[in-house]
Amino acid sequence: MTEKIDKNTTPDTSKTVSRRTFIKGVIAGGAAVSSAAYLFRLSTLHHHAAVAGAAERLITLNVNGQQRRVDVMKQETLAWTLRYKLGLTGTKLGCDRSECGACTVLIDDVPHYSCSILTHVVRNRKVTTVEGLAAADGTLHPVQQGIIDEQGFQCAFCMSGFIMAAVGFLKTNPNPTRQELAHGVSGNLCRCQDYDKILTSLMRGAENLRGVSRA
Ligand code: FES
Ligand code: FES
Repeated sequence: MTEKIDKNTTPDTSKTVSRRTFIKGVIAGGAAVSSAAYLFRLSTLHHHAAVAGAAERLITLNVNGQQRRVDVMKQETLAWTLRYKLGLTGTKLGCDRSECGACTVLIDDVPHYSCSILTHVVRNRKVTTVEGLAAADGTLHPVQQGIIDEQGFQCAFCMSGFIMAAVGFLKTNPNPTRQELAHGVSGNLCRCQDYDKILTSLMRGAENLRGVSRA
């Protein structure tokens, strides 16, 4: 529905917005600046955090075993920070309101929707994204390998969320029944909807994790 604009009540922005107030607005909207820094790899833009009033936004996060210094707005979600400030785009944004699970990451080894947690809250906690699962030599995590083995996803937009939810669940129940694992990842949705195949893949991942050989 198009919103009607009353020309009689709309202020004339050409008179009320000066160049100075415009620049102030850009600094306050740090997300746009910082996401541009990621998108265009202009890391020097991050130094704009030195602008008065922005310094307290610089925090250190423990992500995938690394200390990452990042400029974070107080209302910024972890999903936003991971994707657009740290370039960790394996974490997907689907609904952005705690419904689909595409944004699932581990915080202190427990799955959380990163779209619905503020980045400032995870200071001094351990954040793991899908990029942090593989070994240093590139060997995939057993659950990731299970996905490869069973070709469990179609478009795979939901995949990293399912993987993180499963990895978190398997830390508490390494030998689940199919039904238990289904319950463990029930906070994740797939629009392509072949849940049977997804579960088969995750069960294979659980077997891989336990070192079960199929030979
Ligand atoms: S994007 Fe976070 S739950 Fe959907
Ligand atoms: S495989 Fe397409 S959304 Fe899950």
